[in-house]
Amino acid sequence: MIEVRNIFKFYGSTKAVNDISFSIGKGELFGLLGPNGSGKTTMIRMLTGQIKPTSGSVRVHGVDVLEDPIRVRELAGIVPEQETPPSFLTAEEYLYFVAKIRKMESYEKTCEKWFEFLDFGDQKNSLCKDLSRGTRQKLMFAQAFLHEPELAIIDEPLINLDPVIQRKVKDFLAGYVKNGGTVFISTHILEIAKQICTSIGIIYKGKLVYTGRLDDPTLQRRNFEDFFLDLVSRPGNSGTGLSIPAQYA
Ligand SMILES: Nc1ncnc2c1ncn2[C@@H]1O[C@H](COP(=O)(O)OP(=O)(O)OP(=O)(O)O)[C@@H](O)[C@H]1O
Ligand SMILES: [Mg+2]
Repeated sequence: MIEVRNIFKFYGSTKAVNDISFSIGKGELFGLLGPNGSGKTTMIRMLTGQIKPTSGSVRVHGVDVLEDPIRVRELAGIVPEQETPPSFLTAEEYLYFVAKIRKMESYEKTCEKWFEFLDFGDQKNSLCKDLSRGTRQKLMFAQAFLHEPELAIIDEPLINLDPVIQRKVKDFLAGYVKNGGTVFISTHILEIAKQICTSIGIIYKGKLVYTGRLDDPTLQRRNFEDFFLDLVSRPGNSGTGLSIPAQYA
């Protein structure tokens, strides 16, 4: 479903993504993990045709993203990082708008189901600008899955959601891939990745430092947090002179 070969993205002297290759098969829930600024969003923007790589190739669902970035956006449900729905539409109008772009024929019931499932039906007539951050994220999540795409690409799917909705979204994603869908998420919340991903990649300073299945015995034997921190620990970060104030120690 996704095939990335020797992809680079440089911003001036910043090597945001530095020679990364991987592939993701149908039915996988792939989590790209990495610390802040490691290149996760940059990678997602290249997968979804929002930015062009400096070099390298990206194929999504058989489509060359560089040649046909619009096609990728038709094929995949996408939630970009910190994207907000248009301020001047109500939540319902926004979902209807997306449904029409997705060429869905009867969409009112489907939209209603999403309002119920993510528990924000009482907000459907509110302008998007007046929605809370978490509610806007629910709306963005709903729009990505409205047309039941075979592939979804989501930057930090759960970051602003409360625990009840997080659980629903996690269960939804797990069920979605069990039914043959494919999902690519980025996250720095290790617990989420551990709970729902079938495979992971760990990116650090633009380099992919690990890829594998989550049920890989090497990974299973280790504490997941320790495993992650070993790969992304920054030499020289200790001994910076910062210390925990006595009252918190
Ligand atoms: N448009 C841009 N112009 C210049 N530098 C950029 C741009 N976008 C990203 N970068 C840089 O590229 C690097 C990777 O950024 P990116 O947003 O991909 O990280 P991330 O892993 O998504 O981080 P976070 O967890 O904070 O969301 C960072 O050093 C960032 O400052
Ligand atoms: Mg990011």
